[in-house]
Amino acid sequence: MRIALGSDHVGIELKKLIKEHLQEKGYEMEDCGTDSSEATDYPDFALAVAKAVLAGKSQMGILICGTGIGMCIAANKIKGIRAALCQETYSARMSREHNNANILCLGQRVMGSKLALEVVDAWLEADYSPEGRHQQRLDKIAGFEGGEAF
Ligand code: RB5
Repeated sequence: MRIALGSDHVGIELKKLIKEHLQEKGYEMEDCGTDSSEATDYPDFALAVAKAVLAGKSQMGILICGTGIGMCIAANKIKGIRAALCQETYSARMSREHNNANILCLGQRVMGSKLALEVVDAWLEADYSPEGRHQQRLDKIAGFEGGEAF
């Protein structure tokens, strides 16, 4: 499986750690940057990772900024993206099983690296449960993307 990875300047250390961790586990990584501590705008990297996932170049994406919030807001504006901000493993697992999240958002400033790697592992090891009720709810959310709710 190939994973697209992106962060702003605040998330570079956690990005590096996650990249090494997942490479050791045999995942292919698509690093969408940044690698520099120079100030950047997190939406640029949210867009790059979202594009990689939507184009099928990577199956899943991980985004990191200071809190994970900006990345999550930005990614969820993109049609077809279901981004989940997770700070513990239960939510990470549920975001796959119930919400079919295709991007995981993490905050380097708000979580230790050990927990962050546990969250990444829990997220990647979980699968979507395509039971009717979950899909019905995701279909409703997808309907919002076309402006049907207004
Ligand atoms: C950058 O200072 C910071 O705003 C960003 O990393 C992120 O936390 C935004 O949500």
